[in-house]
Amino acid sequence: MYQILDGKTVSAYVKQQVKDEVALLAENGSVPALAVIIVGNDPASKVYVGNKKKACEMTGMKSIEYALDENTSEEELLALIDKLNGDKEVNGILCQLPLPKHINEDKIIDAIAPEKDVDGFSAVNVGKIWLGKYEISPCTPMGVIELLDYYKIPLEGKNCVVVGRSNIVGKPMAALLLERNATVTICHSRTKDLASFTKNADVIVAAVGRANFITADMVKDGAVVVDVGINRLESGKLCGDVDFENVKEKASFITPVPGGCGPMTIAVLMKNTLVAYKAQNK
Ligand code: GUN
Repeated sequence: MYQILDGKTVSAYVKQQVKDEVALLAENGSVPALAVIIVGNDPASKVYVGNKKKACEMTGMKSIEYALDENTSEEELLALIDKLNGDKEVNGILCQLPLPKHINEDKIIDAIAPEKDVDGFSAVNVGKIWLGKYEISPCTPMGVIELLDYYKIPLEGKNCVVVGRSNIVGKPMAALLLERNATVTICHSRTKDLASFTKNADVIVAAVGRANFITADMVKDGAVVVDVGINRLESGKLCGDVDFENVKEKASFITPVPGGCGPMTIAVLMKNTLVAYKAQNK
């Protein structure tokens, strides 16, 4: 019998903790502020940015949205980031990805001051994550860790297989699992015989971006299955990277999509904004 890893409940718990701390700061007259930049009209990005804004409202933080035209130049975006870097009233800066093709994402990410990079994407923050000396956590991977911690799922010595090697999820996920003393394998599109790895996994984290990619025959009995994917089917229905209906019968714990990792990402973003605020107002 499997148990659901309920990201809605756990994210509400994490956000409530942030809200309580922010309320104490508000008594002294200031609250953390997050600047969220979105360029263009990607529908999914609009939904994510809307959810981030709602989370700021819920936790009592200030959010400042910059919705820029699709044709915004790289120079204009860099100029905005430069202005926000120097603005003492702004504690966190987040530029929603993906950006339009004419803008170099790496350049934009690295233009954000590391102390305001609440996504944890910049080279400085990525380096700190691998050194195990970070203040700002990578949001989605840390959301996964917080979810597993809430359900007291042990990681030390466990075989953890991360499927996907993106800079946003796969790579930092592997770093955080390693920090928890797991034995970590990163699999990707060139991995030969993927199932031979996943079948030995105590914990599988799927971050591939392909609907129903992880099937029941790839999962061992009792495995913990974490699905970071969000894919939209032609029917309009959202589904993860894991064939939930069949895999759940083998899993001990499994995340749903939606309602699993997505809300956790945003909860960690709120935590990071509070951490950034505190570091800037010591
Ligand atoms: N696009 C998809 N996920 C993310 C995220 O966590 N942060 C940003 N900035 N963009 C994203």
